[in-house]
Amino acid sequence: MSRVRVGSVELTHPVMTASGTAGHGAELAAYGELNSIGAVVVKSIASFEWAGNPAPRVHPIPQGMINAVGLQGLGVQHWIEHDLPAMAAVNATAVVSIWGRSVDEYQQAAQLLQDGLSSSPHRSTVVAVEVNLSCPNMHGHGIFAHDINMSAEVIAVCAGLELPLWAKLSPNTDQVVAVAQTVHEAGAEAVTLINTVVGMVLDPETGRPVLGNGGGGISGRAIHPVAVRTVFDVHAAIPELPIIGVGGVTSGWEAAELMLAGASAVQVGTATFADPRACFKIAGELSEWATRHGLTEVASLTGLAHRGGLSPS
Ligand SMILES: Cc1cc2nc3c(=O)[nH]c(=O)nc-3n(C[C@H](O)[C@H](O)[C@H](O)COP(=O)(O)O)c2cc1C
Repeated sequence: MSRVRVGSVELTHPVMTASGTAGHGAELAAYGELNSIGAVVVKSIASFEWAGNPAPRVHPIPQGMINAVGLQGLGVQHWIEHDLPAMAAVNATAVVSIWGRSVDEYQQAAQLLQDGLSSSPHRSTVVAVEVNLSCPNMHGHGIFAHDINMSAEVIAVCAGLELPLWAKLSPNTDQVVAVAQTVHEAGAEAVTLINTVVGMVLDPETGRPVLGNGGGGISGRAIHPVAVRTVFDVHAAIPELPIIGVGGVTSGWEAAELMLAGASAVQVGTATFADPRACFKIAGELSEWATRHGLTEVASLTGLAHRGGLSPS
């Protein structure tokens, strides 16, 4: 009753982890059965090793946090050699998130991933690639997902991958519907909505930004209504495009809310920092919520808010 489809990908459950918020993935096995959630979306990786932004990189805010980690990581090759076998060993289903600073670098990441997976015994652990077009913390580089043509170009060069592509978009633009349409036409099977909301917090003692990068991305419950609205608007405009909803999900109801707005699946990010069991807990709560509301399939929640909502029981 909990299985869902995101385009061509079938998941055992709609709840997944969100990129960058669940360590390397395999650690989560200490807190729950990884085959009871849909997938673990790994931290975005590039074709090269990247140091990320200066510390401090994270700071709590009421109802969430602000971060400017800046995509620190050891790169695709390292992930295939070290993290993928560890994830396979704990029966995780992986979605690999990739990034780059140019169209060419996205293509290189996609190519390295393709080459590495084709010779890996763990290839079947990976079910999709999420192309991160929306990191707000890259000093000196704009957000790709704010540029319709650039977003389409990135997806087009990654479309040679044998795996389904999901495009992760930004809520920090009024162009999100147009970008979603364009990346879909360029080859993305689904869109992931949303990445963090740009923001800044100043230190009351120094009067300067608390984060080493200056600004950062806000996540957690504070942004949940932004995620619901973005998912709702994109689903209303492009109902045939599968959406993965993410942003401030801390309970089964908030996961259901994103599905009612139009998401086929949901990711849990910041809640995991407060409780490493969060995604397992939320997955259970979502299934219970659906049962309590008389739904035999969780998948039938998708887009119901556009069709009169839940029938009165
Ligand atoms: C510390 C941190 C690191 C993140 N790193 C990434 C990343 O590498 N790639 C990515 O696409 N999103 C990244 N995100 C964004 C999350 O995947 C998610 O889109 C966002 O936090 C909203 O969901 P949440 O409110 O449940 O955290 C990061 C978020 C946080 C808080």
